[in-house]
Amino acid sequence: MADAKRSNQPSMDNYWMPFTANRQFNAAPRMFAEAKGMYYTTTDGRRVLDGTAGLWCVNAGHGRQAIASAVERQLTTMDYAPSFQMGHPVAFEFAERLAAIAPAGLDRIFFTNSGSESVDTALKMALAYHRARGEGTRTRLIGRERGYHGVGFGGISVGGIVNNRRTFPTHLPGVDHIRDTHDLERNAFSPCEPAHGVERADDLERVVALHGAESIAAVIVEPVAGSTGVLIPPKGYLQRLREICDKHGILLIFDEVITGFGRLGTPFAADYFGVTPDIITTAKGLTNGVIPMGAVFASRQVHDALMDGPENMIELFHGYTYSGHPAAAAAGIATLDIYHDEGLLTRGAEMAAAWRDAIHGLKDLPHIVDIRTIGLVAGIELASREDGPGKRAYEVFVDCFERGLLIRVTGDIIALSPPLILEQSHLDELVSVLSSALQRVA
Ligand SMILES: Cc1ncc(COP(=O)(O)O)c(C=O)c1O
Repeated sequence: MADAKRSNQPSMDNYWMPFTANRQFNAAPRMFAEAKGMYYTTTDGRRVLDGTAGLWCVNAGHGRQAIASAVERQLTTMDYAPSFQMGHPVAFEFAERLAAIAPAGLDRIFFTNSGSESVDTALKMALAYHRARGEGTRTRLIGRERGYHGVGFGGISVGGIVNNRRTFPTHLPGVDHIRDTHDLERNAFSPCEPAHGVERADDLERVVALHGAESIAAVIVEPVAGSTGVLIPPKGYLQRLREICDKHGILLIFDEVITGFGRLGTPFAADYFGVTPDIITTAKGLTNGVIPMGAVFASRQVHDALMDGPENMIELFHGYTYSGHPAAAAAGIATLDIYHDEGLLTRGAEMAAAWRDAIHGLKDLPHIVDIRTIGLVAGIELASREDGPGKRAYEVFVDCFERGLLIRVTGDIIALSPPLILEQSHLDELVSVLSSALQRVA
């Protein structure tokens, strides 16, 4: 009975989809059934090139047998172990392996289940750190306009996406924002890091002057803002932010949920920009998207400040039932093996020039007002149509999907972030489908 039921087309009524226009989707569903390497296969048997690594997470490509086997082995050996006051070697091994690739000193690893949870965890660590050091007045958290830090109340509070803020008006108190770095007028079509805008980092000085440094715990930014349209920091910007944080005793958090694990051609964006924050949040590529998991990388300074007080005391009063889940940790270790064996954490650097040239080659097509690339990421910004922002890019998205390419759109910006196993032939195919879609859209 169950099998018979399963083989029928499922009802579209019950699954309430996340970040989706559910009614529009249900009227014309787009469904994937299989995935291998660089391609999905739809339920009606069409191959679709994955231009977005799923949701920025399948960095080693789909259907990696070694990860599936590691998960199966782990689940049949030990499916679950409590994460509070009990441990298992797989989580410790995974943390050790992560520490080995982390930017210098960020080798204290706390496991979560998602990017949103990693962000909440990092914000809490920052508050706990200052309190432990006798600076409990530092409670203010600073984000940046156009930042995306997931969907927890912490993340939407420090995030700078207006719809998140408008729809859920209850936020953490004591949050402020610095300005974003987007500057179309001066920086459009920059081949890589934009030349103009380092001074936008000085906005942090404005916020410090307004609130007082003694009230500020941390600043959180995405090194490259992804979800609001691939905003690449101007040259020198992140260094300047680091300097201002140091000057005022403020912790710097990099949200590397999308930039972590090779996306920019280095293991982390911190490596790419040569700027070391105090805390890094990750998820997504951590397990190649196979099992949900996140990890927060804390500096020894942050960690050690909390390792004080009586030894029977829980140092950080925080954690999840599934922190360090055995199956997720096993998936993560197998993922790191693949990244290592195939050189994927730096492969983006090898492909970056071909990627940049191919994507920038689209610049004379209609409606394009900017193209931005870095590592294996691209943002293509379209002018919005009068019938409403986002409609033009959505049409490009549907057209691409129907002709065999998955892209992502945010407003009228197309975001591309393919698996890091991308070959020239995939790049040619991606550009060909996308350029014809861009030529067709009104
Ligand atoms: C920078 C950043 N932070 C946090 C998140 C939230 O991650 P999750 O959806 O796993 O909660 C995302 C998701 O795209 C992200 O891009």
